[in-house]
Parts: sequence; C-alpha cells; structure tokens
Amino acid sequence: MIKIVVAGIDGCLGSAFIGLTDTLTLARDAIMRTTGVEAPFQMVTASADGAGIIDGFGHRFEVATSFEEISSCDAILAPSFQPDETGQAPSMSNLSGVAAWIRRQHSRGALVCGAGTGVFLLGEAGLLDGRRCTTGWRGIDELKRRYPRADAARGASLIEDRRVVTAGPPLAWIDLALHSIRALCGDAAARIAAEFTVLDASSNEDSLYQPTGYLSGLNPFLLEAERIVRQAGDKPLSAYDLARALSTSERTLHRRLKQACDESPKAFIDRVKVETARTLLETTGKSVKELASSAGFVDEASFRRAFRRYAGMAPGAYRVLVRARNQPKGHVFALRKTAELIPEMLTQILDSCVNGVTLADPDQEDAPIVYANKEFQRITGYSLDDIIGQNCRFLQGADRDQEGRARLREAIEKREHVEVTLRNYRKDGSLFYNTLNITPLFDAQGQLLYLLGIQYDSTARALAEAEIGALKARLAALAGDDRENHDGN
Ligand SMILES: Cc1cc2nc3c(=O)[nH]c(=O)nc-3n(C[C@H](O)[C@H](O)[C@H](O)COP(=O)(O)O)c2cc1C
Repeated sequence: MIKIVVAGIDGCLGSAFIGLTDTLTLARDAIMRTTGVEAPFQMVTASADGAGIIDGFGHRFEVATSFEEISSCDAILAPSFQPDETGQAPSMSNLSGVAAWIRRQHSRGALVCGAGTGVFLLGEAGLLDGRRCTTGWRGIDELKRRYPRADAARGASLIEDRRVVTAGPPLAWIDLALHSIRALCGDAAARIAAEFTVLDASSNEDSLYQPTGYLSGLNPFLLEAERIVRQAGDKPLSAYDLARALSTSERTLHRRLKQACDESPKAFIDRVKVETARTLLETTGKSVKELASSAGFVDEASFRRAFRRYAGMAPGAYRVLVRARNQPKGHVFALRKTAELIPEMLTQILDSCVNGVTLADPDQEDAPIVYANKEFQRITGYSLDDIIGQNCRFLQGADRDQEGRARLREAIEKREHVEVTLRNYRKDGSLFYNTLNITPLFDAQGQLLYLLGIQYDSTARALAEAEIGALKARLAALAGDDRENHDGN
C-alpha cells in the first residue's frame, strides 16, 4: 500500500506536524467514503529515535515509529520549523541523520516534500542541488546562501522538480498534503480530499482562502462578466464592450472588478480568455494559432504573452506538461505515442546514459522536446520544467549564425540522420560545444514518430582542436621566420 511519512522533528511547527497528519487522515477517510475503495494510502508519523517530538513552542507530540524502521515509503512530508531569533530557518547541523534517510528514500523513488523552512531540510539532504525549488519570501535569500546550487525561485507557491516538492509559505503544508495525494493516488482522489479539507472553508464570500476563479461562482456580477467574455468567442472584446454588455459604465466595471477580484477590466478579460484557451489546450489538438483566434486574441503573439503571464509558461509547454502529468506514475516526463515507446524501463535506461538524450515530437507545433534525460539536464544546467515543451534552439541563445544550424534544419526537414557541433549556452550563460546527432524514429508503417537527439559536451575537443590549429599556425610562422633567416644568411 502507498505509504506517506510525516516527519516529526524537534523544533518544527506543531501546527504543521499535526495539521499534516489531520489533513491526510481526513482526506484518506473522505476518499474511502466517496469511492467505496479500501484505504488509498497509509499515513505514518516518525521521528529520529521513534520517541515523541517537542515542537518549537515546547508542545509534545507522539509518533508511531523511527525513520530507520521505515525501509521504504512513497512520500515524505517535512513540516516547517519554528524560525530562529533572526526570523530565519534554524541551523540544521544536528539533522544530518534524518537528512541522509530522506536522501536515501528519495533515491529509492520516494516523493520528498517540504514547506517554508522545511525546505531547508531538503537542502541539507542535498536534494535542492540543481533543482528548481522555492520557499517563503522571507527565507529565499537565506536558502540561496546556504544551498548555492539550488535553483531557487522567488514568489512561487509550489514547485515539483524530479520528485522534490517545495512550497513557499510555512503553512503551505496543506498544499503539500494535497499535492502528494494527487501525485500518488491521482486527480480524482486529490479533488475529493481538497473539497473535503479546504473548500468548505472557502464557501463564504469574505473568506481569505479563495482561489480567484472560485469567487465568480459566488458573485453574480463576476459570473455574468465571465459568461460575456466566454461568449464573445473569437471576437475581440474591450473594457467598453464588456461594460455595455453588463449595462454599466466603464468606471463602475473598473470599480466592481477591482473590488471583487483585484483586476482591471483588461486583466480580467485576458484571464478569462486564457482560462478558456487553457481548457482547449488540455482537451483539443488545436494549434496555438487557432486557439489564439478562437479565444478572441487579436494575434498569436498577444495570446502567447497573456498565456505566459497567467500560466507561467508557453502554451506549447503547458500542453506537453498536462499530457505528461496525465501519464501513469513513472512516465511523468515521457509522452507516449505508442503504448510501448517510452515505457518506464526505457526512461530508466536513458537516464543512466552517459550522453544527453532528447526526443522531439514532430507532430506538435515547432517540434518541442517531450523527453530529456538526466545527462542532458546536467550538460545544459536546465531543469525539465525549463526544457519540456521548448524547441531545443533555445540553447543557441542569440548565437544563431552557425553553419551547422542550416545543415541541421535541412536534415530534419528531409527526415535524415545528421551530426553537427553547435555553440550552445548553459543556463548560467556559459558557452559549451554541443555535438548533436539527430535520428528520425519511424514506426512500422513508415510514419515519423519522434526525432531522437543524442548530445554530448565536446567543448574539450573543440578547444583542443582550436589549440592545435593555433599551434600549427605558430609553428608555420616560426618555420617561415626560420626559412627567412636561412635565406638571409
Ligand atoms: C531531438 C532534437 C534535439 C535537438 N537538440 C538541440 C540542442 O541540443 N542544441 C541546439 O542548439 N539545437 C538542437 N536541436 C536543433 C533545433 O531544435 C533546431 O532544429 C535547429 O536550431 C534548426 O532549426 P532553426 O533554424 O529553426 O532554429 C535539436 C533538434 C531536435 C529535433
């Protein structure tokens, strides 16, 4: 059975520790009642020695077992800590034992989650190195200082990067609980859990705990405004048009939207259109251009801009991620065109390759990358979130004037194998020479399925060749000088 461990650690916030256990227990029972299935997961509390823990305010909490007694589990949730006198995460120097246990469990496949200062414990475990992560706004600089190799994002609410989940505010543990239920038990179970544990608290209009979209269900003015924006379909709609359709003035529209959802009319219209487009992206195969027009954006570029603003990524990347997320567990970053093409085993094999391996999907607009193995992430310094859904040309940055690029482009168009070396740039901006082999993959009927890219960092060779070239030139020049001297004698 799926096992979720709530980590009990001296000095943590008692509300986070006990809140996690309550949320998981309530959610488990609600899922059982609603679906009639047996317990979807087991929740276990544990501490370093199996004895009770004392939280940052001196309260004692019992736990069921010790970390070492748990040989394997599916998720670990780390609560946040009582901050030290400077308001920062306390020192974690005495937590090397639990950090090592967390690291071990992660390497065996467990999802590891931390909220607020709990994220620092994942840093101690070395799990933030090279990973996109976040913590509360107050702690983000300290997180970067203590774990300089962490790719820390300011202001993000929750980030998952290769089975490490981090959330910002100290009380975001509720999000961690729901996120892990979703990751381990699926969307339907997570929805039941969320409805049971969170949405009740949001059913009054004055409540602070309300997702923006949820407000419209409670406010008839917003509901009507949303309906008008959706019905406008592919016709552009201005603030003036919306005010008229609502039989009100632009000024009143502005005031009421500001009051209800803190948005200007333009921001409101764009958001509702982006939400519509987002649903279409998830459920249809329409191209980004078609979506832009059916959602009523004046052109594709303004749609892309608005989408990026609200969804935090490009439309193509969003589509790829949603599809990937809907894959069964273990296939998270691999889209399958045929059932057998990128099964879990193959993913594991590709992840252990010494070369970078990528797959691009030629059936999607601009052939985005749908799979990238670990080595590719290591070579480029980019995480999967950065890579998936993008065309790989982003690695060239502004350095586009390269002879190999034209050859590559032509071979891809002709669906032929090609090898080129290109100047590429890592996430930190440093140059590397990327030797890239592209091979088209066809199915039995000759249909092109994917483009397979195999990459390796050939910087050392390129620099050695450049040095040999320079040395040869110098020797030739010296030989020339020598000859001249001889001739002169
Ligand atoms: C599977 C695959 C992997 C690729 N990997 C890289 C890469 O690592 N670096 C790079 O500069 N281009 C890479 N490319 C090439 C670019 O995606 C693009 O095809 C190339 O820049 C030529 O197209 P363009 O002129 O439209 O940019 C890859 C292409 C494919 C199909």
